[in-house]
Amino acid sequence: MLNRTDARARTLADLPPVNSDSLLKLIALAEADPRPDKIDVGVGVFRDAAGNTPILKVMKEAEQRLVDTQVTKAYLGSAGDKRFAELLRPILLGPHAGDERVAGLQTPGGCGALRLGFELIATANPSARVFLGTPSWPNHAPIIQSVRLGIEEYPYYERGQGIIRFEDMIAALERGEPGDVALLHGCCHNPTGADLSEDQWREVVRVVADRGLLPLIDIAYQGFGRGLDEDAFGVRLMLDTCDEAIVAQSCDKNFSVYRDRVGSLWVKTGSTGATATAMAHVFQRAREMWSMPPDHGAAAVHIILDDAELRARWLVELTAMRDRINSVRQRIAAADPRLTFIGRQFGMFSMLPLTKEQVLKLREDHGIYMADSGRFNVVGLSDEQIDRFTAGVVGALDA
Ligand code: LMR
Repeated sequence: MLNRTDARARTLADLPPVNSDSLLKLIALAEADPRPDKIDVGVGVFRDAAGNTPILKVMKEAEQRLVDTQVTKAYLGSAGDKRFAELLRPILLGPHAGDERVAGLQTPGGCGALRLGFELIATANPSARVFLGTPSWPNHAPIIQSVRLGIEEYPYYERGQGIIRFEDMIAALERGEPGDVALLHGCCHNPTGADLSEDQWREVVRVVADRGLLPLIDIAYQGFGRGLDEDAFGVRLMLDTCDEAIVAQSCDKNFSVYRDRVGSLWVKTGSTGATATAMAHVFQRAREMWSMPPDHGAAAVHIILDDAELRARWLVELTAMRDRINSVRQRIAAADPRLTFIGRQFGMFSMLPLTKEQVLKLREDHGIYMADSGRFNVVGLSDEQIDRFTAGVVGALDA
């Protein structure tokens, strides 16, 4: 697709350079640094106390079972593994699991779900504007632009004080017109860690419903914040109130299957007939983009969720990941009064009030790799790295 800036390109040789995704660049930079004591708190993968990202024990067992029992790799169709979606349904939707106006399908990760959700919106209403709080996950805006929807940015976060700019958020959503989209983070806000409180969710849902906006909730970290049900509070409240809603979900983090790309998209409309039609469009778009989602990771998640004993063991491993996130947060928060906000936030990320120059200096002087925005992955740190990390950050804040 050509856009305004590259409209003159006629051959492959004419293509303009691409400013590639900053997080992907950061992975490569950290990997290339030969210093053995470098600290990589860039991209969002969970690490344990020793600094590893192990495959969950329960996942290893499910994968073995999959190898032992799978008898065919024949096509499944654009919906992917239907039982996988059925099993996720109550985990995500809670009391709305029985609502037949909500339909879901497997997607290649949360990113695939987002793209597909925005494809659906662009098909239904190409003039919809998407209200996007900033900062947000760096891939949100490019995905929205890729389906040629307009973006209305509003400030979500006050970096100096570590608080949500809630009044600005509400004022922005109040300017929405019916059919415009509110893109919201379900839990564990990426990149800030600053989640809406339950009262704030109530207010957001009220404005979304009053203005006739279409909520699209991106929930990629369910279970990493307060708990599976608690983290789905906003999703479920939205479904309580709104006839139309879209949810992009990911299992990549809570099942630790990042590269396997395991996610799902959920669509609610006001009637089962309208949902069926919307899903027919979704299947068509999926067919055009990837035809069918990759099977392996979702098949393993399916095995875990379909077996009471494996499911219970997954919950134990998920709880251990959440506990580590929260305990590392508390250790960092205790290091300096200017870092206490980190202890009040949720999920893998927080954003430090550092300038880009300070971030680059930390990289050069201490081998600490975080996003230029000051976003860092709390559990990118091994236990042994925490003190060195906080000393480096405090030194940068003092400078
Ligand atoms: C992150 O934000 O670090 C992760 O979601 C990885 C990604 O794809 O950007």
